[in-house]
Amino acid sequence: MSSRLLAKKPLSTIMAEASETGEHSLRRSLGPINLVTLGIGAIIGAGIFVLTGTAAAQFAGPAIVLSFVIAGIGCVFAGLCYAEFASMIPIAGSAYTYGYATLGEIVAWIIGWALVLEYAFGAATVAVGWSGYVTDFLHFFGVTIPFNPTPRGHISLFGSTFPVQVDIFAMAAIVVITIILVVGVRESANFNSTAVMIKVSVVLIFIGLAASFAFGHWSHMTANWHPFIPKNLGQFGQFGWSGIMRGAGVVFFAYIGFDAVSTTAQESRNPQKDMPFGILGSLIICTILYIIVAGLLTGLKPYSALNTPAPVADGAAEIGVQWGVFLIDIGAIAGLASVMLVMLLGQSRVLYTMSHDGLLWKWVGKIHPRFRTPYLTSIVVGVFVAFLAAFFNIVFLAKLVSLGTLLAFTIVCLGVWVMRIKQPDVPRPFRTPWVPVVPILGMVVSVALMLSLDLPAWIGFGSWLVVGLIIYFTYSRRNSTVQLGLAAQSQREKARTTL
Ligand code: ALA
Repeated sequence: MSSRLLAKKPLSTIMAEASETGEHSLRRSLGPINLVTLGIGAIIGAGIFVLTGTAAAQFAGPAIVLSFVIAGIGCVFAGLCYAEFASMIPIAGSAYTYGYATLGEIVAWIIGWALVLEYAFGAATVAVGWSGYVTDFLHFFGVTIPFNPTPRGHISLFGSTFPVQVDIFAMAAIVVITIILVVGVRESANFNSTAVMIKVSVVLIFIGLAASFAFGHWSHMTANWHPFIPKNLGQFGQFGWSGIMRGAGVVFFAYIGFDAVSTTAQESRNPQKDMPFGILGSLIICTILYIIVAGLLTGLKPYSALNTPAPVADGAAEIGVQWGVFLIDIGAIAGLASVMLVMLLGQSRVLYTMSHDGLLWKWVGKIHPRFRTPYLTSIVVGVFVAFLAAFFNIVFLAKLVSLGTLLAFTIVCLGVWVMRIKQPDVPRPFRTPWVPVVPILGMVVSVALMLSLDLPAWIGFGSWLVVGLIIYFTYSRRNSTVQLGLAAQSQREKARTTL
């Protein structure tokens, strides 16, 4: 591989740019509890509210509980690696910046492109989940939407029946959030805390209702839990242990978001102690909540009946508590909206940074004169995500997001190990414990989860990477500020030697 493909962006340049934009001087105001709250706010979303049911029904049965454990363990390893990078390169960047500084441009490009996938397809996934809960909620008012939920019904034209796959609510949600992002939103800590409170309360309400039902109807629960690991149906990923792994690959989506904690490393009062506390704390709390919810949900209804757009609300309906269903619908609607907002906001940040580095066209980073937002990107991405949300199935979207994010995790784990060898003396306010064991375990679990996903997801992911590499080789390589700087430097050196 040409060494220019591996051109690195010097740490000093990254830090200098960060101080230019004021990022460097962010106040160190976040304590350990703030970090845990922030993590939970970004984590809880469509994964637990929708995919738990879908993945139990399609892949793992009641053993979806084990899928959550496996995915959670992988995230803890990757999270510890994220924390080291975040404290070493403490700017509000992301894995893309870490990759650029340590492993080189082509790797940074791939991570950046994978992050775009994570956020864009992630927002679409959550939008489809959100739409399911809106549809469920509207039932309270006697409104039944013909084209929702998935499968979204059929339409008769000229005597033939066509399946209709347009999720109007999911599309509308993305349009509204895009408008909010274009006009500008100051994400306040208060907004995040409120969203976290609502989400966690709703999850706890479900747990409370389901647990008290379980005590009175133990045989009902145990009947549904049996068999805990349904027999494999003859194909990889359809129940049995391979189904548990595929389930883990899908519900891995539910954990995405804890990396948000690592991006606040420089705002943390004591990164060495608080970063692992924030990352592990939010992950452990969510893992526990997820396992309990998954266990109870699969006990309330037979797993095969959980493939619905709003399975947690349906679980509450099974108990017969209508106010519970009502609250769960409201909580999911509010909670999922906040996740979509965070994802689309993250999306525009990654694209903006890539454009600033010359890896994407200038218009991508163009700022609106009045709103001070990267409005063109937000609109283009918004249209694309609205299209995805309108036409694609939630599980397919979630698998793609998992693949992209797991690839980024794998590279981040590798990067931590490589940096320990190549640049052992760079100050690291937080050090990942037991290197290289933890990074290796992080890579092993991530790759295993990737391999558990099916061919259509891989084809979608492969196509995404191919498009990315075409852009890289036709545009980014020639316009990258790092490459242009290197070229100018070698010109100067040539001129000096010929003098
Ligand atoms: N973890 C987030 C969710 O489940 C992305 O929606």
